[in-house]
Amino acid sequence: MLVLGVESSCDETGVALYDSVRGLLAHALYSQIAMHNDYGGVVPELASRDHIRRVLPLTRQILAESGCSLADLDGIAYTQGPGLAGALLVGAGMARALAYALDIPAVGVHHLEGHMLSPLISDTPPEFPFVALLVSGGHTQLMLVDGVGRYTLLGETLDDAAGEAFDKTAQLLGLGYPGGPALSKLAASGDASRFTLPRPMLHSGDFDFSFSGLKTAVLTLVKKAGIGAAPDIAAAFQDAAVDVLVMKSLAACKHSHARRLVVAGGVGANTQLRERLTREAAARGIAVFYPRMEFCTDNGAMIAFAGAQRMAHAAPELTFAVKPRWDLATLEAV
Ligand code: KG4
Ligand code: ZN
Repeated sequence: MLVLGVESSCDETGVALYDSVRGLLAHALYSQIAMHNDYGGVVPELASRDHIRRVLPLTRQILAESGCSLADLDGIAYTQGPGLAGALLVGAGMARALAYALDIPAVGVHHLEGHMLSPLISDTPPEFPFVALLVSGGHTQLMLVDGVGRYTLLGETLDDAAGEAFDKTAQLLGLGYPGGPALSKLAASGDASRFTLPRPMLHSGDFDFSFSGLKTAVLTLVKKAGIGAAPDIAAAFQDAAVDVLVMKSLAACKHSHARRLVVAGGVGANTQLRERLTREAAARGIAVFYPRMEFCTDNGAMIAFAGAQRMAHAAPELTFAVKPRWDLATLEAV
């Protein structure tokens, strides 16, 4: 079954072709980061308009690259939510219209399910069950995953998401948007031991997170130590954030008796998080699985893959709705 995947929930237009037998055939991405950089964050209206410009040329590009034609498609998957309503509508409208014209099913995919299953796009995918650490710009959750659509929330952030904390800290340190990669790069030249920042909720005994206090602590530190100390502050921030993510993930694995941990979402691209998690998990007999680096942040491949898992249940529909807010734990098992 050949599935076209379309991602347009935020500031990246991603498309991909996933075949349930042959695997991932092609994928392409257009990032709007440069456009939003001038505003210090994503401008929803500009994002929607740019998705309109990109989505069809990108789709033509991957069809040409893979030697496929529209007639070869068996279904189309698109991000139905959560995300920016106008941006979601671009992908949903394009996918539904094309599916209708081709008389094939279209399926709306949960963006976080896409992230969470992205490590399965691999020759050596993890088996179920596993614990998933979802760390994106909008979400931070620990989930127990027993199968596709069989998700139990173990814990989540009570305020800022991990990626949001990286972005806001980066902004305080005068770095651009998105802040995660820039902050992590700056931290590499800093001394993490010069300052110690709080590890919020490290010993709360549950699997919830809180990152807004960490951001406030950074603000206080910037005022006290000055912007000249930015590399050391960045290193201290990254240390604290990674510490909490690693300890909580390992505690969630222990609680669930899980031998496998999956990390997904933009912050999963963080090198320090990857190194520490892999090392400390291995010491406890837990294997950690990551998506390919390019599939940590938003992409079409994860939507095509998750869509392919759900395609058998896709119903032909003339109307459609996007879900800017959507609880992952409410999905149905397939
Ligand atoms: O998953 P994603 O592309 O979009 C959402 O669904 O939110 O995640 C984007 C987030 C941003 O907050 C970005 O700063 C963060 O992931 N990020 C990183 C790194 N690369 C991206 N955070 C820390 N270190 C990185 N290397
Ligand atoms: Zn995402």
